[in-house]
Amino acid sequence: MSAPHFEKRRKLFQQELAKLATGKILIAVLHSGTKGRLDQFYPNPNFYYFTGVDVPDAAYLVLIDGKKISEGLFLPPSNPLQARWDGEGAVSAGWMDRTGRPDKLRLNAMKETGFSTVYLNSEIYGYLERYLDKISDVYLDFTSDGYGSSEYSHFFWQKLSASKPFMKAGSVKNILHSLRHSKDSFEIGKMREAIAITAEAHEKIMAHLRPGLYEYELQAVVEYVFTSRGGQQNAFDTIIGSGKNSTVLHYNRNEKRIEKGDLVVCDIGVRKDYYCADLTRTYPADGRFTKKQRIYYDIVLEAHDRVIRFAKAGVKIAEINMMVNEFYAKKGVDKFYFHGTSHHLGIEAHDGGNLEDPLKEGAVITVEPGLYLSEEEIGIRIEDDILIKKNGCEVLSRALTTDMGEIEKKMAAPRKKIVI
Ligand code: GLY
Ligand code: MN
Ligand code: MN
Repeated sequence: MSAPHFEKRRKLFQQELAKLATGKILIAVLHSGTKGRLDQFYPNPNFYYFTGVDVPDAAYLVLIDGKKISEGLFLPPSNPLQARWDGEGAVSAGWMDRTGRPDKLRLNAMKETGFSTVYLNSEIYGYLERYLDKISDVYLDFTSDGYGSSEYSHFFWQKLSASKPFMKAGSVKNILHSLRHSKDSFEIGKMREAIAITAEAHEKIMAHLRPGLYEYELQAVVEYVFTSRGGQQNAFDTIIGSGKNSTVLHYNRNEKRIEKGDLVVCDIGVRKDYYCADLTRTYPADGRFTKKQRIYYDIVLEAHDRVIRFAKAGVKIAEINMMVNEFYAKKGVDKFYFHGTSHHLGIEAHDGGNLEDPLKEGAVITVEPGLYLSEEEIGIRIEDDILIKKNGCEVLSRALTTDMGEIEKKMAAPRKKIVI
């Protein structure tokens, strides 16, 4: 849990916050999120990014008072009754005796997390009380969705500002976007692992796919590979869209029988040790692309390849989008394209980031042009994950072919009933 990169990230965060301080006290608070009763807990990505801590109801606090910068990790108490349901949390707050000596649990939390300042989560308001008159700015994680952090931030803000109407609320969004933009070598290593598992699942799709299967049977093949290779969870709901469904961008009901002649868009990704992959390929149900399918596939692949030749540090995602739109317009197919070409990828399948910011070395983005002709039931998307470098990019998913001939060759191998 404790690793030098978490501490390094926190230092950078603190430096950015210090630039925003106005002379009075500035605080920033990030929350790990809450756990649904029957849900697997997954920490709010921004909280996790700075702490590596994967327990619900925890908070990370930074307090900037002039030149003095303090930080604290607020953890839930050990709860033996709850542990009978959910297991013991990886770390818990423990306590300090009257002489200020940490007990075994707190010592363990300090060792595991690398924080020298660990508190009980319910102490956070008490901790802040002594500073209340001097706090002018409160930076919170209002924008994260899906993990309860935004909800906590609103609650926290209401509670803190109720008696201090002159405090100002700010969002950590821009700082987080800029810090999370370039991935370090640890993160890139994890993404390579996630991509390798996801690519293997695509290989299994090619070995398994045939008319007569249901979309959910392919989903099962994919998620078998994810789970059996140590994937943590899906990075997003598996998309297996055949025939008409191939033209629905985020179709994930996966309930239709796959028919002869269908194209099958398979947009899949695993999360491995918190990092995501996001890879799409489009396969012909019966192993051969039709003449018409080939025409559109070729256009999408050319758009994809053009982006890969174009992408490098300094280029903006907005420019990539524009390039693909212009290329499609020239080919007369722009009316069949409805989405952006790229998004950042990292702890989240859709990592945040401004489309107008020039990409920096170390950014990982997707390249996913598509075409969707619903009348003709032709949907095609080809999606790879690339690492931005100074003078170009590395296709992290290069091992997974995009070539129609190669795909047909792989699919020509005898279909087995069970190929896993
Ligand atoms: N799988 C979701 C996306 O490609 O954006
Ligand atoms: Mn995708
Ligand atoms: Mn994507």
